[in-house]
Amino acid sequence: MTAGRKNTRVSLTNPQMTIYQAGWKEQSRFRVAVCGRRFGKTFETTEEIRRAVRLAVERRISVDNEIWYAAPTFRQARKIFWPKLKKFFPPSWLWTKPRESDLSMEVGPYRHVVRVVGLENYDALRGSGLFFFVGDEWADTRPGVWNEVIRPMLSTAQGHALFIGTPKGRDHFHEIYEKGQDGPTHERGWWSCSYTTIEGGNVSEEEIASARSSLDPRQFRQEYEASFESFAGQCIYAFSHSGSIKDRTYDPDSPVFIGLDFNINPMSATVWQEQETPEGETITFQIDEIVLPTSNTDEMAKEIVVRYGIRASDFSGNATVQAGHISVYPDPSGGCRRTSSGGNTDISILKSYGLTVVTRRKAPAVRDRLNFTNSMFLTSSGKRRAFVSPRCTQSIESYERYAYLVNSSEPDKSGGYDHLVDATGYYLFFRFASQAVDGSRLRFLER
Ligand SMILES: Nc1ncnc2c1ncn2[C@@H]1O[C@H](COP(=O)(O)OP(=O)(O)OP(=O)(O)O)[C@@H](O)[C@H]1O
Ligand SMILES: [Mg+2]
Repeated sequence: MTAGRKNTRVSLTNPQMTIYQAGWKEQSRFRVAVCGRRFGKTFETTEEIRRAVRLAVERRISVDNEIWYAAPTFRQARKIFWPKLKKFFPPSWLWTKPRESDLSMEVGPYRHVVRVVGLENYDALRGSGLFFFVGDEWADTRPGVWNEVIRPMLSTAQGHALFIGTPKGRDHFHEIYEKGQDGPTHERGWWSCSYTTIEGGNVSEEEIASARSSLDPRQFRQEYEASFESFAGQCIYAFSHSGSIKDRTYDPDSPVFIGLDFNINPMSATVWQEQETPEGETITFQIDEIVLPTSNTDEMAKEIVVRYGIRASDFSGNATVQAGHISVYPDPSGGCRRTSSGGNTDISILKSYGLTVVTRRKAPAVRDRLNFTNSMFLTSSGKRRAFVSPRCTQSIESYERYAYLVNSSEPDKSGGYDHLVDATGYYLFFRFASQAVDGSRLRFLER
């Protein structure tokens, strides 16, 4: 059988067709397709499933060998693929109604099973044989799933597999990509390719230019250029001594913004003021840092009010301090955490001092916060939107020294540099992420 546009009911783009046509050959039993966001990865998988069913029928493969679409989690799989799969096959091919309980259906003259699975509890998946396996968003799956579970399941029927996704550092996805490349890392039976979002042809150049201006350079390369970026070294790599340090003193007439990490020792906050550029863009300056050893939220709130509260007197001439112009962006977990003093939550304590508290239900993932902080220090189009006063010496040290653990995408917290970086991250992310990044782009921040 020849694969080609004529044999598919929709037309694949040229790069999708290259991935498709490489399939079902001895030298490419396991294919790895590394592609930028919105390339058309999931779309490609639908055609792959359709062909696998056709081959299973043609080759009279035993129905004990199933055909699987897998996503990192069951929830994702059900959302991304199950509705598409249900529309796939003509009703005459379906033996029973698609089963919602385990996202499976029996199709074709021999009742081959097509199943949609999530890989979060992959040990529970052992059992059947597999004729074809396609893993979407492969960089998000746990490294053991292939060798421990999927590979053995493909043995009986000499099944084939396709792994598709956007890179996330030099991890297990990178490793299998290398197996498919010519050279010393090549392994027999493996084939791999890489395509950028532009090459996918589903996203306009303007949209890509807009993404470039709101993402940091490394994030842009990873998400749109399908590049395996290394996470070694400095976490806040976009911070630069020469480019990011700018002196600016406190302006009492302008609002104050504070990022706050609730760590007890030290409790850490970074203090910012914003400015509008002639082009209508907001830039922000860190003017201060507050680091209180063995402290609590009450002490931090008091310190903020002492430094930045506005003193006035009420009708009776009593001195008052107003703090409503100070917006605090704390770690959202402070909404439920109760400190020892009186059973109030950290956030309710801040509010009791008259501070404006801006928070969300959920903290962004550490990685997303770091990425976003980098994009404020330097966008991929070379603009800087966040600056730090030279007086903030501990913050500067933290931005420069906070680093990833060797061979890991986990930051090293042993040096204590995480607290000020976290504080800054809460403010920058919650204040600017939703403005800078539209909904569709925010989705990948959560992927
Ligand atoms: N060959 C094609 N013909 C027509 N439309 C396509 C084709 N390939 C992809 N698309 C459309 O482009 C959009 C992006 O495709 P898809 O969701 O498959 O991309 P993706 O790479 O999986 O994206 P993400 O990175 O968000 O997971 C979808 O609306 C899809 O229907
Ligand atoms: Mg997809």
